[in-house]
Amino acid sequence: MTLGKDISSLYPSQTAIPEEFDLKSPVVQASNLVDGRLDPWRGEMQNVLSPVHLDLGSGLAPRLIGSCPVPDAAEALTAVDSAWKAWDRGCGRWPTMRVEDRIHCVGEFARLMSEQRDAVVRLMMWEICKPLPEARAEFDRTMDYIQDTMDALKDLDRASSRFVVEKGIYAQIRRAPLGPVLSMGPFNYPLNETFTTLIPALIMGNPVIVKTPRQGKLLFGPLLEAFREAFPAGVVNVLFGDRRIIEPIMRTGKIGVLAFIGSSKAADTLRLMHPKPHRLRCILGLDAKNAAIVMESADMDLTVRELLSGSLAFNGQRCTAIKLVHVHQSRAEELVARLGAAIGTLPLGMPWDEGVKITPVPEPGKPAYLTQLIGDAKAHGATVRNERGGETALSLFRPALLYPVADTMRAYHEEQFGPVVPVAPFTNMDTPIDAIIESTYGQQVSIFGTDPEKVAELVDPMVNQVCRVNLNSQCQRGPDIFPFTGRKDSAEGTLSVSDALRAFSIRTLVAAKGTPGNKELLSNILRRRRSNFLSTDFLL
Ligand code: G3H
Repeated sequence: MTLGKDISSLYPSQTAIPEEFDLKSPVVQASNLVDGRLDPWRGEMQNVLSPVHLDLGSGLAPRLIGSCPVPDAAEALTAVDSAWKAWDRGCGRWPTMRVEDRIHCVGEFARLMSEQRDAVVRLMMWEICKPLPEARAEFDRTMDYIQDTMDALKDLDRASSRFVVEKGIYAQIRRAPLGPVLSMGPFNYPLNETFTTLIPALIMGNPVIVKTPRQGKLLFGPLLEAFREAFPAGVVNVLFGDRRIIEPIMRTGKIGVLAFIGSSKAADTLRLMHPKPHRLRCILGLDAKNAAIVMESADMDLTVRELLSGSLAFNGQRCTAIKLVHVHQSRAEELVARLGAAIGTLPLGMPWDEGVKITPVPEPGKPAYLTQLIGDAKAHGATVRNERGGETALSLFRPALLYPVADTMRAYHEEQFGPVVPVAPFTNMDTPIDAIIESTYGQQVSIFGTDPEKVAELVDPMVNQVCRVNLNSQCQRGPDIFPFTGRKDSAEGTLSVSDALRAFSIRTLVAAKGTPGNKELLSNILRRRRSNFLSTDFLL
């Protein structure tokens, strides 16, 4: 239990860091991956500081964990040229390669990537302070995603390996790539969310430029050799840049798909940078403020358990986190008392500490922002209902349970993306329903209740507001075969293992009237395996 300690005493001294998780020296990421080359970067470099501060005896200081390139517009344009060359107006080796061969390259990459698990996990702990078991889970889940994607593409290809005959026309319908993809993942799932767009984009035949997240950059370093080895030059390009490189990339008009996880405001700006926005497909994961509705009939043991993890896993830094709890007035005091007590049991500490749940937050301004939200809520009549909630020391922030929260408060509307849990009481079910209808967000909702009639009455209006209604469980993305999307300002496009293959491709067909001449032509092409598209080969 850490409640008794001064929160700043949780920062370790150098000698208290377990050797197996320490970085022997700062990691110098000396190159971007462009056109299949890891040329030494000669331009501006950026220091990467950890949210972990070290106790130096004389005070606390953020640990320097490495440095990486700050590519300029020229480097960004070289990456575009490289992806454009690999695409070669749709005629390049990668976009025209047989599906089987692309799957082979991705499989080879996965084999090489699996060897980098410890290095990636260690950097993930240092860069974004994801607790060790969760960092390992993110890596493993990503490996599973790659395998599942390869399997899903085999299924898709098998279904397309036959001709369709309709009204005397013979056609083979397949999915074809769209062109160079710009993939930008978020800091909270820097590996997994980047890869859930990168891998389907690649395997469908699109060259990709990855811009690493704001935090969670260095962990891409151990994977660069694997990308270089497994894929033809120019097919995967990785830029360790900041947002300044995006505009020159988009302005070229050579990006066919924008895969972006971030704010809706940024997504709107990015899309308009493309000279022909109608040519740009957007796959976007955006803002969310998922609500929980706790009904009179809720099973409180289960509800508290799910809310605790649903709102505070990884410090509440999940797009799917529960960010507002509506509770029926008759159960409000009970919920607040129990949830507040449960929050008090969450261990704070460093990401490698056994059982740790709350760790330093990587966004530099976040503790100050959360403190403002709490101040605003207090000024409008709420209080912090858990012991020492909202206490901060640099990047550490003790979770705060705010009650009673009302729609006059910022915490009711803003996506806090951090460890603040606003709880709003209601007496009439119309209050949470209207709030969700009026909200600009539309990702998921969680309903806690055991009365079938009342739960069903709530399900029907909710399914038209959000894209996943969770019954008696927290909001979440997985399992990855389920569709993951949102309405309004929360998303564009649907991701799941199989949906993502569709998102990064377009249906294209070759059709011919069934004349004797055409039949002979098609048979000859198929028999002699003259085309990679026109083929009845069945992938085993
Ligand atoms: O941050 C958004 C993630 O995709 C959520 O995934 O629900 O599995 O934590 P998760």
